[in-house]
Amino acid sequence: MTIDLHPLTPHIGARLTGIDARKPLASAEVAAIEAAMDAHAVLVLPGQDISDEQQLAFSRNFGPLEDGANSGARDSELRLPVVFADVSNLDKDGRIAARENKKRMAALANRLWHTDASFRVVPARYSILSGRIVPSEGPNTEFADMRAAYDALDARTKAEIEDLVCEHSLMYSRGQLGFSDFLPDERVAMKPVRQRLVRTHPVTGRKSLFLASHIGTIVGWPRPEAMAYIRDLIEHATRPEFVYSHRWTPLDLVIWDNRTTMHRVRRFDDLNIVRDVRRTTTRSDGPTTAQEAA
Ligand SMILES: [Fe+2]
Repeated sequence: MTIDLHPLTPHIGARLTGIDARKPLASAEVAAIEAAMDAHAVLVLPGQDISDEQQLAFSRNFGPLEDGANSGARDSELRLPVVFADVSNLDKDGRIAARENKKRMAALANRLWHTDASFRVVPARYSILSGRIVPSEGPNTEFADMRAAYDALDARTKAEIEDLVCEHSLMYSRGQLGFSDFLPDERVAMKPVRQRLVRTHPVTGRKSLFLASHIGTIVGWPRPEAMAYIRDLIEHATRPEFVYSHRWTPLDLVIWDNRTTMHRVRRFDDLNIVRDVRRTTTRSDGPTTAQEAA
């Protein structure tokens, strides 16, 4: 079977067929996926009826696996092994999570534009999301192209942001929604980490904005000024011309490059309709900036 690639928008997203994610990939297949990711930043592989083990094996082709952040839940409260980010609306028993469920509260922050794991010292490379059960009425997942958004900035702004460093933490993104129900050890684990605001893709050399709702300040700036500035940048970077909105079909496997995109999930009737989507995440090459000693 040959690999076919169909762009979904002029900037971002492509549909890729001709790969069977259930089977071990040949090195040429891995290289083809990576090249397609470098070009399109988001890939949709339709019809991938994979098990958890197959998803893990597929994901390992693209770097060491990152544990899911799993929204403050204790390991014993998790439905899936900790290496997955369980972005379903299900509790550990496989039932729809109750309205006040802590995991649900924290996961509501996925409706804000973000980049996965930007709050880790070594941030994420790829996220790989398997749509096991996806409601026909949505929600869509939206992806914004941080390369095109960078390119569209004026020269003055590019110069202003070139060397800026932001602090990222899950506490900041969840805090935006008024969620602050963190245990003391969670606060330690969520200590802010520093990331460059402008990063350069290691293969293509293209610059992109490293934005996320996980940002809580810009180093050296008054915090309100930093947050107002970041809001403006996110507003710019998520204009419709930079966005691909993915409408899910069951068994889609969607891969995105967190180094060059932001994403968010839209609202849906999550108290009544089951949505079972399972994410694996791989790690990038290293920190984007030096970190303060812990
Ligand atoms: Fe996410």
